[in-house]
Amino acid sequence: MKETFYITTPIYYPSAKLHIGHTYCTVATDAIARYKRLRGYDVMFLTGTDEHGQKIEEKAKEAGVTPQQFVDEIVTGEGGILDLWKLMNISNDRFIRTTDDYHVAAVQKIFKKMYDNGDIYKGAYKGKYCTPCESFWTESQLVDGKCPDCGREVHDAEEEAYFFRLSKYAKPVQELLESGTFLEPASRVNEMINNFIKPGLEDLCVSRTSFSWGVPVDFDPGHVVYVWVDALFNYATAMGYMNDRYNDLDKYWPNVHHIVGKEIVRFHSIIWPAMLMSVGMPMPQKVYGHGWLVIDGGKMSKSKGNVVDPYVLAEKFGVDALRFFLLRTFPFGSDGNFSNELLINTINVDLANSLGNLVSRTTAMVEKYFGGTLPADRCHDALDDEISAMMKECTEKYAGFMDAFQPHLALEEAFRLIGRANKYIDESAPWVLAKDEANRARLATVLYTLLEAIRSALTMLVPFIPESCAKAFEQIGADAAAQAWEKAGEYGVLPAEVSVHKGETLFPRIDAAAMLAELEAMQEAAKKAALPALEVEPLTEETIDFDTFCKSDLRAVKIKNCEAVKKSDKLLKFTLDDGTGTDRIILSGIHKYYEPDQLIGKTAVAILNLPPRKMMGVESNGMLISAVHKEKGEEKLHLMLIDDAVPAGAKLC
Ligand code: MSP
Repeated sequence: MKETFYITTPIYYPSAKLHIGHTYCTVATDAIARYKRLRGYDVMFLTGTDEHGQKIEEKAKEAGVTPQQFVDEIVTGEGGILDLWKLMNISNDRFIRTTDDYHVAAVQKIFKKMYDNGDIYKGAYKGKYCTPCESFWTESQLVDGKCPDCGREVHDAEEEAYFFRLSKYAKPVQELLESGTFLEPASRVNEMINNFIKPGLEDLCVSRTSFSWGVPVDFDPGHVVYVWVDALFNYATAMGYMNDRYNDLDKYWPNVHHIVGKEIVRFHSIIWPAMLMSVGMPMPQKVYGHGWLVIDGGKMSKSKGNVVDPYVLAEKFGVDALRFFLLRTFPFGSDGNFSNELLINTINVDLANSLGNLVSRTTAMVEKYFGGTLPADRCHDALDDEISAMMKECTEKYAGFMDAFQPHLALEEAFRLIGRANKYIDESAPWVLAKDEANRARLATVLYTLLEAIRSALTMLVPFIPESCAKAFEQIGADAAAQAWEKAGEYGVLPAEVSVHKGETLFPRIDAAAMLAELEAMQEAAKKAALPALEVEPLTEETIDFDTFCKSDLRAVKIKNCEAVKKSDKLLKFTLDDGTGTDRIILSGIHKYYEPDQLIGKTAVAILNLPPRKMMGVESNGMLISAVHKEKGEEKLHLMLIDDAVPAGAKLC
């Protein structure tokens, strides 16, 4: 029987569009799951959605739909979470939604079980509540008076609630954290112990009465189960814990590994083990807390000038290139600074130049020198032994890194081999060998060694860029047997008379300047689209008395002449009939909106008793009145034109 391997991602809040940061975690977990399948494990890869809570209830209300309709749209609708995982080639074996009936019923049973065993009791909660994070905090946990997780405002809240005896489990949880490798990277262990356990674990508020979108506590109507209790148990209910829908708990549970972002390590490494201890479940094998993708050191957001929409990035760069970039560039346990420049550079350097060129140069030479099929004659030398030794060494190290959840280091091994193979081409100079018939066996050997190095590297890359590897395997003539992990570090696996099939370029080089300009234009357009369609200035609250208003001498004026002011691209000079018989000159900065000819002969409104003002050497005596507003952030102006029947000098009041 195959050994099992159970791996999970956090289940996503369908409260906002997923960005590339969310995608990071799922792609990483997918690469590890694919690797484990390659190694022959019976893999269970679970992901899903965490659909309850106050935030969802509020957002649904804002959108004018029921919470269920709201989450259905984001999870199963077009361009929703399921579509995104399909696009990103995520190979999850199961998908759980916390609104699934079997999960809801199971959570009710779990809650009752902890109530019955005395670990959940009724009390009253007073504290600081962060609505976006759905977390209660004590005064001492706040950072500068704000939520320690997200930095947003918190507010006083009090409610009758159920509590989980987290304090009771402080010691066993600390022992678990300090023993072995339950929580990784190791730095996160100290963080948890020093920041949360040492200051004293308080009992956790595990029910809410202030909203209703949650799993109802069936023995106390009005209470719903705290969203984190509901969410964390997904890992168990999706395998059949406390329900009949699935029956895989015994098979997979002993080998469960949770991959989570750093900000939810506390939930997974303290609260989760404590609750599992309470219900008598074995501990997970591992919680791995990965770092965050940030932009300019801060949180991802659309306004930061980088496109972070995974749909856009996948369309522009390709799914494999995007998957690769995420895992190649950033050490998994630490934060990484995302930028489009870095993305383009990684694709060009690693995929287009190193890997893509190696495959295309090698297959092109097999075609050019041997018509696509190598002859069986061989002539080996020490360089081939070096490559073959490296295949073995790199694949072994790669496996160690993948087993330790270090995908960036594993990829480094694949690229060490690719780099060495590229150097081997220059050292062996096949184009020189090709000049002499006597070198045919050596030439065939050089190309064979290259094909073998490529095959070995591709086997390591399969979990990261599966579709590109399938094409490249086809190009180098590697059948399914030659793609097996067991053969990855072995030399001499491809048939001696291997045939190549030169195909499409795997990773076309990206024109960085053009692509960056394109992305920037998209970003600008998106920013503009997000602006309000129409904006008018808010009304002035301060009142003026009637006499003050009457002091403004507003008059109808006829535009006798209008011309642009020399050396100014803004100013128009108006010659006006104000009814006095003497021409009046007014300057107005509205050239951007009108050509002079458009306005001659029209009747406008001006305030005449402003003090004279000189602009560009010309004196202006008053101001023409315009209506101003904004459309999609752009200022719009309309000169106030009135009925031509109104005579010059008529007072407006
Ligand atoms: N619903 C909870 C998880 C419950 S698990 C029982 C949740 N959901 S989330 O949608 O907010 O986040 C899902 C995952 O995305 C988390 O692991 C989080 O760390 C990760 N990321 C969100 N933004 C991220 C980055 N910018 N970079 C990397 N990962 C990030 O938390």
